[in-house]
Amino acid sequence: TTYNIAVITGDGIGKEVMPEGLKVVQAAAEKFGLSLNFHHFDWGGCDYYLEHNRMMPENWKDIVGDMDAIYFGAVGWPDTVPDHISLWGSILTFRREFDQYINMRPVRTFEGVKCALSTPKANEIDFIVVRENTEGEYSSIGGIMYEGTDREVVLQQSVFSRHGTDRVLKYAFETAMRREAKDLTVATKSNGMAISMPWWDSRAEAVAQDYPEISWTKQHIDILSARFVMNPERFDVVVASNLFGDILSDLGPACTGTIGLAPSANLNPERKFPSLFEPVHGSAPDIYGKNIANPIGMIWSGALMLSFLTQDSGAGASAHDAIVTAIEKTLKGATLTPDLGGEASTQTMGDAILANL
Ligand code: NAI
Ligand code: MG
Repeated sequence: TTYNIAVITGDGIGKEVMPEGLKVVQAAAEKFGLSLNFHHFDWGGCDYYLEHNRMMPENWKDIVGDMDAIYFGAVGWPDTVPDHISLWGSILTFRREFDQYINMRPVRTFEGVKCALSTPKANEIDFIVVRENTEGEYSSIGGIMYEGTDREVVLQQSVFSRHGTDRVLKYAFETAMRREAKDLTVATKSNGMAISMPWWDSRAEAVAQDYPEISWTKQHIDILSARFVMNPERFDVVVASNLFGDILSDLGPACTGTIGLAPSANLNPERKFPSLFEPVHGSAPDIYGKNIANPIGMIWSGALMLSFLTQDSGAGASAHDAIVTAIEKTLKGATLTPDLGGEASTQTMGDAILANL
């Protein structure tokens, strides 16, 4: 099999970290006998937007719909295009149109990286955030009445379907089943949001019936956030609605030291549509052009992609593990970009990981 990968480099440091991602992913694929065919697209908020007045072509779905995966840098160039247009015209469109209903973000600490927390067990952080990625609080249903008057009323509806809720909960329980601790935390807020969240809890209870081996608890999002900072080592798999998961999946990596390390996978687990792999960070205009962006989030996302391509087993899973081991070795060997307190350039970091691979 040859896997077809759409490569969307995007804007800002996307352009700097993508070459590092590609060279490590390509080397790992070769090492484990995976054949990849990269297709490059120059879509984004900078040059492409200036020329076409949109983030990608109108027929983008025909162009990338048959790919096996999308490897995505970052978009956003506030000088040319407002952020809500760059995100809704690109990454958010992919998530919704390709039904990438799982946003999976592993969070862990590495030897050699100073953790942002000083709690005694902060160096033992190793958990996965599973965020619902297509519905929930992020809907476009609602409106403003009596706009501009002092009687103004604003409504924004949340949308929780049984189909959408059960499938993300099921994915989280399945993920927990594959881990040693077999522990799941379900984020909720059923004390405050008195309709949607008690219902969400009841769906968790229903889905849990199929997973008697998993120890699970529900925790209100407020105390859950506090525990991310106080006892992050206690978490194993955490599942949350779109809004809560969005917040938790930035808070988690921030606790480990830098968001430059953090990878994410936007998954359509049924493989009806391509899944998308991207670092958690954005285009970072503040550091673009200096060659100091940390490429690990990009590289690690590529490892998640290789694993997903072969159903999380076989050659792709081995390639994933080899890349993560190379990252561990590199950080332990003190090759560090400035966000980690070092002086290595983006390319030096990429080269070191490649060498360790
Ligand atoms: P950002 O993630 O681009 O940057 C936040 C801070 O973290 C900056 O100080 C940046 O220098 C630093 N940083 C980020 N990645 C880093 C890396 N790999 N190595 C070292 N330092 C790193 O978020 P920000 O500044 O809020 O957004 C910038 C643009 O990116 C905006 O246009 C935003 O809409 C877009 N964005 C795009 C995302 C995507 O494509 N999925 C996600 C988040 C933001
Ligand atoms: Mg976010």
